[in-house]
Amino acid sequence: MCGIIGYVGAEPAADVVLDSLRRLEYRGYDSSGIATIDNGNLHVSRAVGKIKMLSAQLAVSPLPGTVGIGHTRWATHGGVTELNAHPHVAGGHVAIVHNGIIENYADIKARLIVAGVVFLSDTDSEVLAHLFHEAFTAGKTPVDALDQVLSEIKGAFALAAIAKQYPDCLMVARNASPLAIGLSDDLVCIASDAVAMAHLTRRVIYLKDGDRAVIRKGEAEIYDIDQQPANREIVTVSAAPMLVDKGGYRHFMEKEIHEQSDAISNTISAMTSETGAITAGFETEHLAAIKHIVILAAGTSFYAGQIGRYWIEQIAGIPVSVEVASEYRYRSPVTASYTTALLISQSGESLDTMKAMEFAKAAGLTTLGIVNVPDSTIARESDIVLPTRAGPEIGVASTKAFTAQLTVLLSLAIALGQQRGRLSIAEADALHAQMMSLPGAIGQAVSRFDEIRPIAHRLSRSHSAFFLGRGTLFPLACEAALKLKELSYVHAEGFAAGEMKHGPIALIEEGVPVICFVGPNELSKKTISNLREAEARGADVIVVCTDSMKDIVDFAEFTVTVPDCTELMAPLVMAIPAQIMAYLTASEKGTDVDQPRNLAKSVTVE
Ligand code: AGP
Repeated sequence: MCGIIGYVGAEPAADVVLDSLRRLEYRGYDSSGIATIDNGNLHVSRAVGKIKMLSAQLAVSPLPGTVGIGHTRWATHGGVTELNAHPHVAGGHVAIVHNGIIENYADIKARLIVAGVVFLSDTDSEVLAHLFHEAFTAGKTPVDALDQVLSEIKGAFALAAIAKQYPDCLMVARNASPLAIGLSDDLVCIASDAVAMAHLTRRVIYLKDGDRAVIRKGEAEIYDIDQQPANREIVTVSAAPMLVDKGGYRHFMEKEIHEQSDAISNTISAMTSETGAITAGFETEHLAAIKHIVILAAGTSFYAGQIGRYWIEQIAGIPVSVEVASEYRYRSPVTASYTTALLISQSGESLDTMKAMEFAKAAGLTTLGIVNVPDSTIARESDIVLPTRAGPEIGVASTKAFTAQLTVLLSLAIALGQQRGRLSIAEADALHAQMMSLPGAIGQAVSRFDEIRPIAHRLSRSHSAFFLGRGTLFPLACEAALKLKELSYVHAEGFAAGEMKHGPIALIEEGVPVICFVGPNELSKKTISNLREAEARGADVIVVCTDSMKDIVDFAEFTVTVPDCTELMAPLVMAIPAQIMAYLTASEKGTDVDQPRNLAKSVTVE
């Protein structure tokens, strides 16, 4: 996902913007750049690759001025080149940075080319620079220029512009892509994510869709979609997060795998009332209103939702459907019988999930957000937030947020089961006790990296791998496959163990690795016979099971065990070896573990 920074103050803008861009690195990007204005001149520096490349350029050729904008780009339109990096410049007068997609850029570009404009990049964003230049050339003021540009463009955007004609201000606007304004007495700044400027100020205004603003030192003139002056609330964001560091681990992902015991403990605390009951933070009347749920999410969060469906239906008897967020609103879903949309998102900024939330809201559903980033858009716009207390998750591949999401979902299932009288107090207490044992079990599972190294070595030499599971271990198998492919670039697929014989088994031949999660339940016998079918055709069978079951598959090439746990807890505990397997395979292959190629930590385009 792209990141935008802007600054108007007394300090050298390039230094301030560069530091804030570093705080957005976790979002994933492939180029970066900064533009400043000084004495009526525009100065720009851009670089492909990591921010250290831009920093090295600035060390040699610093950018003067106390007004500036910056950008980290995750390529959507146009390849990863310096010409496609932001800021984009028009006529030597205007520089812009943009996050999102200008859907009608081709028509605008064609019009501008006919008018004699020469484009230097392949991006959609460059049209914005020329549109602002066109407006200023026509004598527009910053506010009128914003209105003129915004009246022509369509799509999701967060943008910032600076212009030589108005050297003391930034022009900003947002539609569907987050943008926040940070205010203090001697500066004003803007950022795609408040975390990037929390070290500068914690007083923040979150712009709303359609908002535009002209920002000068110490002030922000904000106008709404109807171009009327808008008074937006100034909120104080959570404590200024430091630049999160690796804490002595090789990668953020390794650190975050090790943080899961704490993440789950903290999340359980957030789900527990002062009396020690699992309430998921709900008042009883809110729980009673939940009668039919649709879960909307993407990627790893989607697989967490699929596991949550098993729990909520089994424990609470409430019907649940789980949908890929990017598909939901386009398939004309029938929403009449649903009461609740449950959005699951680590970042709280995935545009697919945000748009699905908007659709569900418009359909009259109550929206619950299971979100990890407290001040994110989905957190702010959900009717009720169920927080995962995993802390900042920097590695692009989600780990601690996933198990924290599962913790919230299980807590919600228990709270709903109690409220609907399907769980006696004793049964609820027993489930609570199981949950309280989770941090310890997870901690033991995390300590078993070395057991998994031989498997990672094996997988690093594979072209593909298949993951199997039954019950809640089926979505876990899909999540394990996603982890392996997104980190190590080894093709992987997850299947319900019972599905192999309906087609996928045709792919099994000598040496194909089949990793199977065997749960502590009656289904394990069926799963083992599925494994025999694969092994008989040459598969290298790898089993993940509990300590007590370690000899249950005597034909396995490898067996990885986790501490004994109940069937209910199995997907949480077995997620750990799945994460470690993917992490070690990627490490062995030398891929960029924290920022795998082509990926972003939060995808803010559709
Ligand atoms: C997870 O490992 C992936 N990075 C990706 O699938 C992610 O889960 C997905 O993009 C959804 O992100 P969100 O939870 O922030 O909405």
